[in-house]
Amino acid sequence: MVFYVRRGEVPESRHTFDDREKLLREELFGEDSFEGVYSLIYHINEPTRVRNCSVEIKEKLVITDEPYLHRHLRTQNLETYGDILDGRKTILANSRVQVQIFKPEKTRPDFYRNALYEMLFFVHKGEGKIISPMGSISFVQGDYLYIPKGLMFRMEYSSGSYFLILNSMDDLKIPERYLNRYGQLKEGTPYYTRDIRPPEFNPPRRESGSYHLYVEYDDRYVVEEFDFNPLDVVGWDGYLFPFAINVKSMAPIVGKLHQPPPVHETMSSRSMMVATFLPRPFDFHDRSIPISYYHNNIDVDEFLFYSSGNFMSRKGIEPGSVTLHVRGLMHGPQPGAVENSIGRPGTDEVAVMIETYDPLLLTDIGKLIDDKEYMKSWYS
Ligand SMILES: [Fe+2]
Repeated sequence: MVFYVRRGEVPESRHTFDDREKLLREELFGEDSFEGVYSLIYHINEPTRVRNCSVEIKEKLVITDEPYLHRHLRTQNLETYGDILDGRKTILANSRVQVQIFKPEKTRPDFYRNALYEMLFFVHKGEGKIISPMGSISFVQGDYLYIPKGLMFRMEYSSGSYFLILNSMDDLKIPERYLNRYGQLKEGTPYYTRDIRPPEFNPPRRESGSYHLYVEYDDRYVVEEFDFNPLDVVGWDGYLFPFAINVKSMAPIVGKLHQPPPVHETMSSRSMMVATFLPRPFDFHDRSIPISYYHNNIDVDEFLFYSSGNFMSRKGIEPGSVTLHVRGLMHGPQPGAVENSIGRPGTDEVAVMIETYDPLLLTDIGKLIDDKEYMKSWYS
């Protein structure tokens, strides 16, 4: 996916053993069956050694029949609730993408795996760690955390942690136009390989006990119980692994005139483009209008999560607010915003944007935090 990483001890050649008395259990962890990006992971125990297996039915995802309109959702108003299993609240969704807010009340010792979706966490508040058989990644506010589809992990986080989670059924990748033919991030891109933090390796755990893994599908969890600690990896290598990258290490692209959202692109899949609006100086033309123009973004829906700073283009928006601007309906600066933007030197905003190619629809949870007056917010 990103670059080659090797951690711990791995056999001299793949699919071979170095010591017949200490056979390792090799796992091919890959995407797109055997065609996509992958890593080879070496376990002490057979990862198939399941002592018990059960099924738990999940709370159903409910898409409302609310009209397809511009929305302002106040995620600040969602309660702190639950853990990695029941605390992630889906506010918008389509058949390929889910947008979730996670304000956990507690941590959970069990392991979790998403069988269907790549996960991209954005840390709006808090700090903590993800722990996986491939190692641990510490995170702080402003981090993106990429979790490949199918990775087992658990999370620890400080109280008051607050995450935006973007789930994509299609593989999330660094944009191809950012990479040279060797797979290296090119000059002129908003971040570099050095800014990407792969897992720190942890020595393998050898204890026995009772360990649970919750594997998530659309409507259920399959719960597997192991009699050994699944953090039993002696080493791995490859190109598929979780990683973090912080918005502070990103370098925004600025210009003489207003730059369109694709210059802020961070990661993308076939079903969505993720972009990051970063603190930056505004355009340097002496008569520039730095704020965006009006548009009715045909072919995409435009989602924004406002994390920090001064959100110049919108009134009534606070950290934690979400706006959704749907295709076909015009949106843009609110009254007075163009005038106010002229002559400003820059912005300190941090916001996460996604463009989805299929319409994003309001869920029952999203409806609870919907600002009903938003469509009229341009009229004053
Ligand atoms: Fe827009």
